[in-house]
Amino acid sequence: MLEKFERIHLANLPTPLEDAPRFANETGLSKLLFKRDDLTGLAGGGNKARKLEFDFVNIIKGGYDVVITTGGVQSNHARMTAAAARKLNLDIKLVLGGADFKKCQGNLLLDVLFDAEIRFLIDDDENDHLNAAMEKWADELREQGRKPYVIPIGGSTGLAALGYVNAMKELSEQFGQGKVQVVLTVGSCGTFAGVILGAKLFMPNARIIGVSVSRTAEAIKTRTLELIKESKNLLEVNPEIKLDDIEIYEDYRGTYGIPTEAGKKAVIDCARAEGIILDLVYTGKAMSGLIDLANKGKIDKNVPVIFVHTGGFPSIFSFADEFNDMAKITKM
Ligand SMILES: Cc1ncc(COP(=O)(O)O)c(C=O)c1O
Repeated sequence: MLEKFERIHLANLPTPLEDAPRFANETGLSKLLFKRDDLTGLAGGGNKARKLEFDFVNIIKGGYDVVITTGGVQSNHARMTAAAARKLNLDIKLVLGGADFKKCQGNLLLDVLFDAEIRFLIDDDENDHLNAAMEKWADELREQGRKPYVIPIGGSTGLAALGYVNAMKELSEQFGQGKVQVVLTVGSCGTFAGVILGAKLFMPNARIIGVSVSRTAEAIKTRTLELIKESKNLLEVNPEIKLDDIEIYEDYRGTYGIPTEAGKKAVIDCARAEGIILDLVYTGKAMSGLIDLANKGKIDKNVPVIFVHTGGFPSIFSFADEFNDMAKITKM
């Protein structure tokens, strides 16, 4: 059923499924594996590569000449969309929002490297405002005779979520269909929707656990179910998934884009135990949720856990000040 959807090659697949024995030991889990979607490639890797493979088919077939998308100032989605646009010889415009910045660092630096034209909403990352700015820009471009293709925030559509239905098929081939708890970061919900639907189809014994980095649990449930419905219609499948089947935790998000102490600790501990880089905006917060949920007995320590590492490492460089006092450097 997935085969009938064309994809443009952007992601290096399958991504590895790696054991993390030292970090598992530190967190008291019997088994912890990382699904390394931080290694998809596309200018630093991450979950968006799988999603964009579907969007860019429409963009190329529809003869669009410029891609517009939006996100926070350290948006991984924006960086990867910019890379994909350049790879496919398309122009790229980004509407970014958030706290004003002094330096182009992390993802923003890469956006600049890809020569994305950027409109920046200072101190404003409200989704409605970002979308409105994007639509206004698209209108301006149409008036100039251009053909813009607008990708919504996070690239989350029912079509893009098929990238994660496919990821679950891939994971079932690597892990099998045994009992497992799959934990992932949730932002604009496309990845979560795909993982939930993919699990229903390919890993029926998997419990899917989302950790929010931005929206409330209630908002996530509603949006995720909408996306799942869209994906089900596209695939012409109909497994039953209800609002109450969606397991999501909102307590680890802090303020979107601002590091939390627990998230920072997870980033540091994971780097030191496994040599794996999480980030302070997304995966570090989700990992702090995984650890706390395991400590509270809400994640079963005796059942294997797979953490879907959705990427995001470039933003770590924009938070250099967070780590300065840890440096053990002797100048000789
Ligand atoms: C590193 C990283 N992880 C997770 C997510 C969340 O994915 P989604 O927006 O599909 O919920 C994002 C989204 O931007 C991300 O950049």
